[in-house]
Amino acid sequence: MTELVPGFLWGASTAPHQVEGNNLNSDFWAREHLAPGLELSGDACDSYHRYAEDMRLLADAGLTAYRFGIEWARIEPAPGEISRAELAHYRRMIETARDLGLEPVVTLHHFTNPNWFAQEGGWTSDRAIERFQTYVQAVTGILDGVKWVCTMNEPNMLAVMVTMGRQYSADSGDAKKWMSPTVDGAARPVIPDPDPEVGRRLGEAHHAVRDILKKHTDAAVGWTVACPALTATPGNEEKLKEVRYVREDLYLDAALGDDFIGVQVYSSQAVDENGVVPHPLGPDTTLTGTAYRPDGIGTSVRHVWERTGGVPVLITENGIATADDEQRIRYTTEALGHLFAAIDDGVDVRGYLHWSALDNYEWGHWGPTFGLIAVDRETFERQPKPSLAWLGEVARCGHL
Ligand code: FCB
Repeated sequence: MTELVPGFLWGASTAPHQVEGNNLNSDFWAREHLAPGLELSGDACDSYHRYAEDMRLLADAGLTAYRFGIEWARIEPAPGEISRAELAHYRRMIETARDLGLEPVVTLHHFTNPNWFAQEGGWTSDRAIERFQTYVQAVTGILDGVKWVCTMNEPNMLAVMVTMGRQYSADSGDAKKWMSPTVDGAARPVIPDPDPEVGRRLGEAHHAVRDILKKHTDAAVGWTVACPALTATPGNEEKLKEVRYVREDLYLDAALGDDFIGVQVYSSQAVDENGVVPHPLGPDTTLTGTAYRPDGIGTSVRHVWERTGGVPVLITENGIATADDEQRIRYTTEALGHLFAAIDDGVDVRGYLHWSALDNYEWGHWGPTFGLIAVDRETFERQPKPSLAWLGEVARCGHL
């Protein structure tokens, strides 16, 4: 039987914009209202008010961790203007999680920026890092007792979004063309590669706030990377290295010196002489259009472990967009099998956080459901799915 490290985290993840609702001051909110191809986030799951109920469901099921985010657009609604009431809100979330026996894994940036930051030029403005530092410095005041902090979620996907933002800016009149980065971009090769210059800038931002967090908190600090589990078709090993550098390795290299690396993986994709091969359609194709590949997690953690030279891994996201909860349990069973095999082979994995706790707003679409818990969009009533009880049971036993 696979031996897990003591205190191995078993949990689920969410992101503020996807569950809280009414994130009015953020750039994604603005974008949703410009692009006719995107559905609106609106009240989302109203987790801004109902977070205690969400956490209780996870804890009651047997999970021991909850990854959630702090929304910069709420903490700093205007440059330099820090909201004490919003800081207190997120402090209450941290305390609620701890009171329920859930280890909070706190993400400081999950795709969304304050709209003023985006208008100032966003991540490519000269002031970007200084702005991010001001926000993170303010947040350190509420992180007492928090053991896990993720500075940024999927900087590689964020870099894609920055590139899309340049292409579809309101100035160019093309803001209508915005697509969902995770849904419309997953299956079809329509989203651009992340610009390495942007990626390097995000790496600098990560290091700048890592220093602040290490100085003012006791938390383990890392960032979470979208790991596409790329593999080469015969003869295309060199092409794989090239593609993987731009999409993944640049971001893994920036994790050197971190306390952990968050691995986020959903599928797996081949690389041939022309680059990434679009996901093949199959009977198990997920609701975001990705291939059903629960083995991706094994490919990813092994690659991350090798590339970083042994930075401890926390699975911060893994899951499947499906309306069929049995398929979710099947996928996750297989994924955990691959994860356990990597642990058996010596990869240091500190926990598994499933994406997602709730059916939520998937960056422009409500269709793809990733949740362990269904949410009625009118009453906000939560309905735990069998997969929640199942994962809680795995957490209790520590094996499949
Ligand atoms: C990841 C994001 C997360 C969610 C999942 C499905 O790329 O970090 O917010 O969209 O994909």
